[in-house]
Amino acid sequence: MTVLVAGATDMLGHEVAKLLREKGYRVKTFSRNPARAQALRGIAHEIATGDATKPKSLDDVFDGVDAVISCLGAPMGFTGKDRRSFHKVDTVANCNLVQAANKAGVSRFVYVSVHVQPGYARTAYIRAHEEVIQELRKSGISFGVVRPTGTFPIFDPFLHMARRGIIYIPGNGKALTNPVHPLDVAETCVETLTLGNDVSVSIGGPDILSREEIARIAFKTVGKKPKILHIPRYVLLATAAMVQPLHPRYGEVLEFVARVFTSECVAPTRGRRRLSEHFAKVASMAA
Ligand SMILES: NC(=O)c1ccc[n+]([C@@H]2O[C@H](COP(=O)([O-])OP(=O)(O)OC[C@H]3O[C@@H](n4cnc5c(N)ncnc54)[C@H](OP(=O)(O)O)[C@@H]3O)[C@@H](O)[C@H]2O)c1
Repeated sequence: MTVLVAGATDMLGHEVAKLLREKGYRVKTFSRNPARAQALRGIAHEIATGDATKPKSLDDVFDGVDAVISCLGAPMGFTGKDRRSFHKVDTVANCNLVQAANKAGVSRFVYVSVHVQPGYARTAYIRAHEEVIQELRKSGISFGVVRPTGTFPIFDPFLHMARRGIIYIPGNGKALTNPVHPLDVAETCVETLTLGNDVSVSIGGPDILSREEIARIAFKTVGKKPKILHIPRYVLLATAAMVQPLHPRYGEVLEFVARVFTSECVAPTRGRRRLSEHFAKVASMAA
């Protein structure tokens, strides 16, 4: 069985591609940047690149493909030059993938979205993901949705801040979440290939923690005395509104960060790997 992993150069897609290869699937990858895709040599049997926001880029990509796992999305970081909104990248690119997969007769589509709770459900980032699911429903293709909470590497900046002696947290830090290891998410993606149509699998890790408790684990990992500063949510939301017209992506990232950090984001515990072990590993690699 050939599985196309879309968005395979980044965290989740890379884990999914590696896992599929280990499990004996034939792996084809699709991502945008040809230079970054070179890192997939040795994992992928076949590598394709192109910009999925342009339907023409998808000609021939689905030839010989039985199923798709899409981890494709616009990066959450503040480093890229791309100012486009999440809708213009995540929604447009993934809807193009759904249509091209359907046309090519692909039998299964697994889409990685986000675990959604009311506090941040109306953000542009979440709406962009939900629109893809509407397109999947409309298409008639058999599909499943994997919905992770934040993955462990999202919290790596806490370690870097802890090393410098101070962690900044949006809001009062009391809202709970259970972050999850990318490999646990990848395992769920592969399992979802064979589940029923229109299933939605939310996945969180084994430790339900407040953001402040996560910060304390980061301080403990690097052996520093905890010092935490809280950034009021209204400051982040006001900044997001000011940034939005100039750089829609950054505006939407700030809006999401302000809302999700101050909201409960707890999914059923399917992941088994621990955040403290992840922090210890990252800290030892940086030492
Ligand atoms: N990370 C988390 O904690 C988390 C939690 C919940 C949900 N999610 C969701 O899970 C998905 C995967 O997240 P992630 O953090 O692993 O990666 P990501 O940064 O969202 O995805 C990046 C991948 O998508 C590719 N890509 C982006 N735009 C493209 C385009 N126009 N055409 C073709 N390829 C394109 C990138 O290719 P290049 O490298 O070539 O640019 C890269 O392989 C996303 O939808 C994300 O929102 C993530």
